[in-house]
Amino acid sequence: MRISVKAGAPEESKAALLAIAMGAGGGTVRRSTPDSLARLDRLLKGEIGRLLATRDFTGAQDETALFYPANGPKRVLLVGLGERDPIDGNAVRQAAALAARRATEVGARSLGFYLTPESADLDAELVARVVAEGAGQGSWTYEHLRSKRESKGDLNSVTIVTTRDQRLAAQRGRRVGAAVAAGQAFARDLQMRPGNECPPSELARQAKELGKRHGFKVTVKGKRQIENEGMNALLAVAQGSAQEPRFITLEYRGRGRSKAICLVGKGVTFDSGGISLKPALNMEEMKYDMSGAAAVLGTFECLGHLRPNINVVGLIPATENLPSATAVKPGDVVRTHSGKTVEIINTDAEGRLILCDALSYAKRFDPACIIDLATLTGAIVIALGDQATGLMGNDPALLQEIRDAGDLAGEPCWELPLWDGYRPQIKSDIADIKNVGGRSAGSITAGWFLKEFVDDHPWAHLDIAGTAYTDQNRPAMRRGPTGVGVRLLTQFILRRAAG
Ligand code: BES
Ligand code: MN
Ligand code: ZN
Repeated sequence: MRISVKAGAPEESKAALLAIAMGAGGGTVRRSTPDSLARLDRLLKGEIGRLLATRDFTGAQDETALFYPANGPKRVLLVGLGERDPIDGNAVRQAAALAARRATEVGARSLGFYLTPESADLDAELVARVVAEGAGQGSWTYEHLRSKRESKGDLNSVTIVTTRDQRLAAQRGRRVGAAVAAGQAFARDLQMRPGNECPPSELARQAKELGKRHGFKVTVKGKRQIENEGMNALLAVAQGSAQEPRFITLEYRGRGRSKAICLVGKGVTFDSGGISLKPALNMEEMKYDMSGAAAVLGTFECLGHLRPNINVVGLIPATENLPSATAVKPGDVVRTHSGKTVEIINTDAEGRLILCDALSYAKRFDPACIIDLATLTGAIVIALGDQATGLMGNDPALLQEIRDAGDLAGEPCWELPLWDGYRPQIKSDIADIKNVGGRSAGSITAGWFLKEFVDDHPWAHLDIAGTAYTDQNRPAMRRGPTGVGVRLLTQFILRRAAG
């Protein structure tokens, strides 16, 4: 998809679908056409004015009105930005996503997007960035495994309409937004792939290819090397599967010898639960258990496009979790990479096992900070649903930085406390620690388990089990994988690179 910026008026758009975003509330939508649309509306013989006068379109969030004027653009779509006052980048991103989704549904190959200046007083750079991100999000489809396409066709081009004096700022925003869109699409494609098509070896191949495409170092450890490293917790999870595990390291160097940000992503390409087998209902969703890995790889795709002045290391432990005669059993004890011993009470708590080896491995990079992303607990889905990612960590400043990045990126995080009082829940009768802490505070005890393996590096844990995919079709996001984490991490990294 080509995303470009064009200085000019909305009535000059040649797009197959011209989207016009307007807000409600704060007096932004009145019952008559705003000045910025006066010329366009004359061309449309007053259609916009009539939609506003009748209140058939009010500018409410996710509200749309599509019409086919006799003159001018082939299709015009009014999109509501909602009541928020002031309207922010997240509202505009969502409107752009909705517009792009409608465009793909009707089969329009080109989309023009115009934000009425009366609706929002936003920086042109931010607007262009979020429109590019939203357009990518809304037009994403996955048709690789169908014999016949379901959607009418891909959206090939998006044009962000801006003014002459804001063109350069918009160009800067477009560049970042297009990179983020590419990264997010990369992550969603990977998430969507079924477990049989994307085992650990394929995840590793994808990482290698990414490194080659953008020119950064990617190394992959196979089973033997994982054994030599002493990553026995990762091996324990993998031992029930015919597919061998991989340990993937990506190194983006944009700033010489300075300390790197370390990103760790859970890469369970299918989680059946192992011997502690999951119930059948919805088990197919567990192909998404590599969403943390997808977020890390998608972020590296962004880095490849944007080349910021900063160092970033990505670590991905990749494995399946299956039951078999060779599978790890409840009660088994393993010596992890860190040297600590773990009693495996429940083989379905496998994410923390593969992450603990990656977290202690991360120390050798002496990172500036460590951020892990994992579809770690069902408990976080109960607590926060698909509206927020669960956030935990050992460094208040880092957590604030992540919350800020998440808010700007439209990927909000909500902190859960890692208080000392929860620690006794993961005490083992036989080993240093056990891998489950009972039914209460399940997301927090999982966080506590991870914390045992990070020592004193600033560290944050993002539990994305509720946000990595959705089972409901939303106006701006289709049912399925969301690519969560890519926007947040890219924002976090760009902010650090600038500061
Ligand atoms: N991958 C799951 C967590 C999950 C649940 C992700 C629902 C997405 C949606 C994880 O490996 C898991 O099975 N966690 C267990 C831990 C329990 C056995 C302590 C859980 O949350 O039930
Ligand atoms: Mn599990
Ligand atoms: Zn899992």
